[in-house]
Amino acid sequence: MVSDSLDEIQALRDAALGELASVQDAEALERWRVAYLGRNAPLNQVLSGLGKLAPEQRRTLGQATNAAKVALQEAYEARLAELKARAREEAFARERVDVTLPGRPLAPGRLHPITQVIEECLHILQSMGFQVASTREVELDYYNFEVLNIPPEHPARDMWDTLYVQPPSVLLRAHTTAYQGRMMQELTPPIRILNVGRNYRFEAVDATHEWMFHQIDGFAVDEGLTLADLKGTLTAFAQQIFWPTVRTRFRCDYFPFVEPGVDMSISCHACEGRGGDCPVCRGAGWLEILGAGMVHPKVLQAGGLDPERYSGFAWGMGPERIAMIKYGIQDIRLFYGNDLRFLEQFA
Ligand code: DAH
Repeated sequence: MVSDSLDEIQALRDAALGELASVQDAEALERWRVAYLGRNAPLNQVLSGLGKLAPEQRRTLGQATNAAKVALQEAYEARLAELKARAREEAFARERVDVTLPGRPLAPGRLHPITQVIEECLHILQSMGFQVASTREVELDYYNFEVLNIPPEHPARDMWDTLYVQPPSVLLRAHTTAYQGRMMQELTPPIRILNVGRNYRFEAVDATHEWMFHQIDGFAVDEGLTLADLKGTLTAFAQQIFWPTVRTRFRCDYFPFVEPGVDMSISCHACEGRGGDCPVCRGAGWLEILGAGMVHPKVLQAGGLDPERYSGFAWGMGPERIAMIKYGIQDIRLFYGNDLRFLEQFA
């Protein structure tokens, strides 16, 4: 009787262990646990029936049943650990990265060629003692024109095809010269300052004109400044931004805010100034670079400075033009066409 029961327990235990060996995942394992170790599992039923047996039988059967339960519990825990370890390994294999693979290259950005030229210009001019004041692009007519000796109705206004934001008093600055009045109000001489940034003009766009372009305007006011200071400063600048043996030429030009006014040309790099049938300078031997002059007494006066005591020189130049000459670029529109094939050449 008892030995039959012992055989049964043994058989139950073997069957359970056999089944456990084929359990492959967490769900099946849980079903197995409920079936063989749960409250209604056969071994537990045996245990709850022990009370009806004689003490001797009860002990033998009880010990055997408990031993079987412990064996199943241990086997369960071992299988659980195995399955967990396997799941970890599988996840590891799935998520594995090959750290020896070469990385994906990042496309490094670079500065726009105009930004590069601006930085180069500023570096040179700062080493000469000029400071940078970048001022507003939306400006008052007063600073763009009037303070610069260009009253309303003055014919010189035609030199700047101006875009108005709120006519007639607010506009998009047509030149960076528009800061000179503000600078004279804010600073006391000696003044050596630069205004760098965008300008806007109501312009028919072609190979040499854009409706937006940059300018660097230089402005120096002190006691005793002469045209020689202007020529010396701008020639030294040209020798650094272009090449050391470049020659400069100054000719009379008209700008309402300077007297005298000049334009500066540099010797052509293609023909070295010889001209002839040079396609770059079209035979002139010279390339016009910028406008300049001695600050007009009326401009100094409008800025609250005594023209009997102070004099100054000023100039305005376009980084686009400088870049076109430096790099032999024929069309200004390339700078703002966002074509990477063009832009990537300026590493
Ligand atoms: N602002 C002028 C222009 O846009 C350039 C210029 C000429 C600036 C003479 C100056 C200057 O400061 O003195 O054409």
